[in-house]
Amino acid sequence: MNKKTIIKRADEKDALKEAASLLKSGGLVVIPTETVYGLGANALDARAVENIFKAKGRPSDNPLIVHISDISELNNLVKNITNTAKIAMDKFWPGPLTLVMEKSDIIPNIITAGLDTVAIRMPDNMVARQIIKLAGLPIAAPSANSSGKPSPTNIEHVIEDLDSKVDMIIDGGKTIVGVESTVLDVTGNIPMILRPGDVTREDLLEVFTQVEEDISIMKDDKDIIPKSPGQKYKHYSPKANMRIITGDLGNIVVRINQLEKIYREKGLKVGILATAETMDKYKEENLLILGARKNPKEIAAKLFFLLRKFDKMNVDIILAEGIEEIGIGRAIMNRMKKAAGFDIEKV
Ligand code: TXA
Ligand code: MG
Repeated sequence: MNKKTIIKRADEKDALKEAASLLKSGGLVVIPTETVYGLGANALDARAVENIFKAKGRPSDNPLIVHISDISELNNLVKNITNTAKIAMDKFWPGPLTLVMEKSDIIPNIITAGLDTVAIRMPDNMVARQIIKLAGLPIAAPSANSSGKPSPTNIEHVIEDLDSKVDMIIDGGKTIVGVESTVLDVTGNIPMILRPGDVTREDLLEVFTQVEEDISIMKDDKDIIPKSPGQKYKHYSPKANMRIITGDLGNIVVRINQLEKIYREKGLKVGILATAETMDKYKEENLLILGARKNPKEIAAKLFFLLRKFDKMNVDIILAEGIEEIGIGRAIMNRMKKAAGFDIEKV
């Protein structure tokens, strides 16, 4: 594929109209959402959707999320809106929560990788919703990165991966959340988290008495098949090898400094991914700061951005501090563990 990619700011005249008309004619358009940028195409056009897989180099057994701009658009796309789904939509839409429901026949199989469920999300981003509304179509949109790379949180990262592979990129500035949406299976009576995100288990427990979590989310066990197919891939990876050090914060600092010295003496370029609370405990060279532990939303917003920054610094190994696995910390650690290929040391 070698396309001329049009790049426009969302507030440029007719940018959103142009995006919508490209989508209507089967094109690929990158759109901003509140989580990460999405690579959009008409969800009802199997050929357009096939081009998403090609542009990303995405395995065909990994299903896509369908984006809508209003709840009224949902009826055509799913067979059965459970009470569980209704409660989740009422509370969290528009927002970073994707709901897995029984699919209707108009959803092409390529979207769902042959599953009989479809993942649907109404993003909390005016630009995204306006484009979807103007196109008058449900829009399939995975994260707008090459498969395996960290999801893009600004258009520079989109351009790195997708320039000349898509028809248009809409620049909506930096995304707010920084990690992808929570994926929640609402086909049954008890909702189940298939991918952790900004809508946390704790948030869900405000409206549900019980919330399950797919056991494969935080573990690397070859015998467990994740219920969300995308979770089985080594994802979000920077070029460097990454190791996470978790446990007592004081011990983490000691161990990272120890490892830094060992690797440096071997002639490797070592990057350290630390937090505001510990940043002055390390050498400044190749040190990047995720944000403050007391403000984990800031950490989520910066994680992918910093992993891509390490790529540009050409480090050989990243030593990363683990984060507490509560609230959005679960989403952060889920992405970090995948980036590290589950190389985790507890101290
Ligand atoms: O925040 C987001 O969700 C972003 C923005 C662009 O909306 N999109 C995104 O899409 O992260 P993607 O394709 O990178 O991730 C979709 C995830 C994958 O893990 C996939 O396996 C899962 O959703 N998924 C899609 N359909 C599913 C289904 N029917 N059942 C279970 N998991 C599903
Ligand atoms: Mg993705």
